[in-house]
Amino acid sequence: MQHVLITGASRGLGRALALGFRARGWTVSACATDPVAIQALAEELGPEHLALTCDVTRPADIGGFAARVLERSGPPDLLLNNAAVINRSAPLWEVSGEEFSRVIDVNLKGVHAMIRAFLPAMIERGSGVVVNFSSGWGRSTSPEVAPYCATKWGIEGLTAALASELPAGLAAVALNPGIIDTRMLRSSFGDAAGAYPKPEQWASAAVPFLASLGPRHNGQALTVPAIR
Ligand SMILES: NC(=O)c1ccc[n+]([C@@H]2O[C@H](COP(=O)([O-])OP(=O)(O)OC[C@H]3O[C@@H](n4cnc5c(N)ncnc54)[C@H](OP(=O)(O)O)[C@@H]3O)[C@@H](O)[C@H]2O)c1
Repeated sequence: MQHVLITGASRGLGRALALGFRARGWTVSACATDPVAIQALAEELGPEHLALTCDVTRPADIGGFAARVLERSGPPDLLLNNAAVINRSAPLWEVSGEEFSRVIDVNLKGVHAMIRAFLPAMIERGSGVVVNFSSGWGRSTSPEVAPYCATKWGIEGLTAALASELPAGLAAVALNPGIIDTRMLRSSFGDAAGAYPKPEQWASAAVPFLASLGPRHNGQALTVPAIR
C-alpha cells in the first residue's frame, strides 16, 4: 500500500488526484481550507484515508496536520504540493501588496512549510518523491499574472536546488500539470476554460504518471502527458 499526500484537495486537480489515487489502491492524506468541501472529500474517500482542514500558510495547522498524517499513515511516498492561488488578473502595478503577499505565502512559503513538515521523515525512511506543482507560467509568462508567474518560476528554482540536496533514494520534481478546466483556470481564461479537459479526465493520465515517479526523476522539470 503506498501513501500519497495532496495539498489543495478540496476541488480542482487536488480533489481529482485524491479520488484517482484512492481508486488505484493508494492511501490518501489530503488537506485544504474549505471545511465543507474537505468533509465531503473525507466521506467520499472513506475511513482508510485522511482529509483534514489545513491552511498551508498557518504553522499551527501544519503541525497538527503533519502529526495526524505521520501517526496514521507514516511518511508519504508521494508529497504533492498542489495547493496554490492566482492573483486576480491585473497589471502588476495594480496588484495590492496584500494580494502579492498572499500569492507568495501560499504558492512558495506554503510549499516550503510542507517540505519542512514531511521531508525529514521521508529522508529518515530513505525514500519518497516531492512533486511541486509548477505551471506553463513557471516556464513562460503572460500579462496580468505576474505574481503567479513569479511564484511558479520560483517553484522551478526551489525544486532544482532541493533536488541537488537530497540523499540517494529520494527525488524532487517540478510538475507542469497542463491546462485543465478548474476554478483557477476560469479566473484567467473565463468561459474559454471550458475548452480544456475536466480535472477527472486529466487525473486519468496524471495519476499513473505521478505513480511512476522515482529517484531517477530527481531534479527534472516534468509535464503531465496530454490525454489521448
Ligand atoms: N488548472 C490549470 O490549468 C493549471 C495550470 C497550471 C498549473 N496549475 C497548478 O495546479 C495546481 C492546482 O490548481 P487548480 O487549477 O486545481 O486550482 P483550484 O481549482 O483553484 O484549486 C486550488 C486548491 O488549493 C487549495 N488552497 C488554496 N489555498 C490554500 C491554502 N492556503 N492551504 C491549503 N489549500 C489551499 C484550494 O482549497 P481551499 O480554497 O479549500 O483552501 C483548492 O483545493 C496549482 O498549483 C496550480 O498553480 C493549474
